[in-house]
Amino acid sequence: MPRHAAASMTPRETAIAIRGLRKAFGGQPVYSGFDLDVKRGDILGIFGPNGCGKSTLINMAAGLLPKDGGEILYDGREVSEIRVGYVFQNYREALFPWRRAADNIRYPLRRMGLPKAQVEARLTALAERFRVRFDLNRYPYELSGGQQQLVSIMRALAVEPEVLFLDEPFSALDFETTLALRDLLQRVLKDLGITTLLVSHDLEESIVLSDRLLMLTRRPTTVADDVPIVLPWPRAAAALASPDFMALKARCLDVFQRAVAA
Ligand SMILES: Nc1ncnc2c1ncn2[C@@H]1O[C@H](COP(=O)(O)OP(=O)(O)O)[C@@H](O)[C@H]1O
Ligand SMILES: [Mg+2]
Repeated sequence: MPRHAAASMTPRETAIAIRGLRKAFGGQPVYSGFDLDVKRGDILGIFGPNGCGKSTLINMAAGLLPKDGGEILYDGREVSEIRVGYVFQNYREALFPWRRAADNIRYPLRRMGLPKAQVEARLTALAERFRVRFDLNRYPYELSGGQQQLVSIMRALAVEPEVLFLDEPFSALDFETTLALRDLLQRVLKDLGITTLLVSHDLEESIVLSDRLLMLTRRPTTVADDVPIVLPWPRAAAALASPDFMALKARCLDVFQRAVAA
């Protein structure tokens, strides 16, 4: 039975509360009565087999996809009432190709009506936070995949979201770039304390980047396991070899083989 880490949370600690969530495509249920609480400031990893409904879940949570029933509340508010950031899997389609990288990041801030000086201040602060060494005045096509995805992440964080959604953000990148971006992202998210839902189909990545890992079954989707990832931050690449990490990975692999792949 999954253990519900949420049971002991006070309302104030809960950033996201999902109750009785339902979604079907063409009469085939993906979710039928799904509940979840996410603690403020936590990075919740969502791991599961292809097609189990990971993207569907965060797209509904982010307000990009309508749900059939149930509720997803942020401190009692609908997603339309809060600021969210979203990072897509495919960085090539995520950025406006006709806008310079910096203008991609400025775009949501201008839409919010932020004064120019504040827009520039946020841009500068983000570039420092992410230790950007490349020229943000370049166009997306002039940047590497990793640089483009970094720009997407900066754009998502520029609005100072209450919740950040990331859908397999590194899956289109090479391993070296992925490791570098994982390091940067975890540092920034932990510094800012942003509540994050991170979808991944890479088990190691899910463990390395999460405070808590939700392992989903095949559809109709339920929680196969709800694993607290109690490892110190930051988690450098070397953490992948620590005994605690290996033990967590063994547990998750076991769950995957018994419940998920069954
Ligand atoms: N717009 C859609 N129309 C019909 N079926 C869909 C649609 N979006 C997703 N699905 C189906 O719902 C299931 C879950 O999809 P998805 O959330 O994208 O899975 P995951 O992200 O876990 O790989 C899959 O079986 C997929 O084929
Ligand atoms: Mg997906």
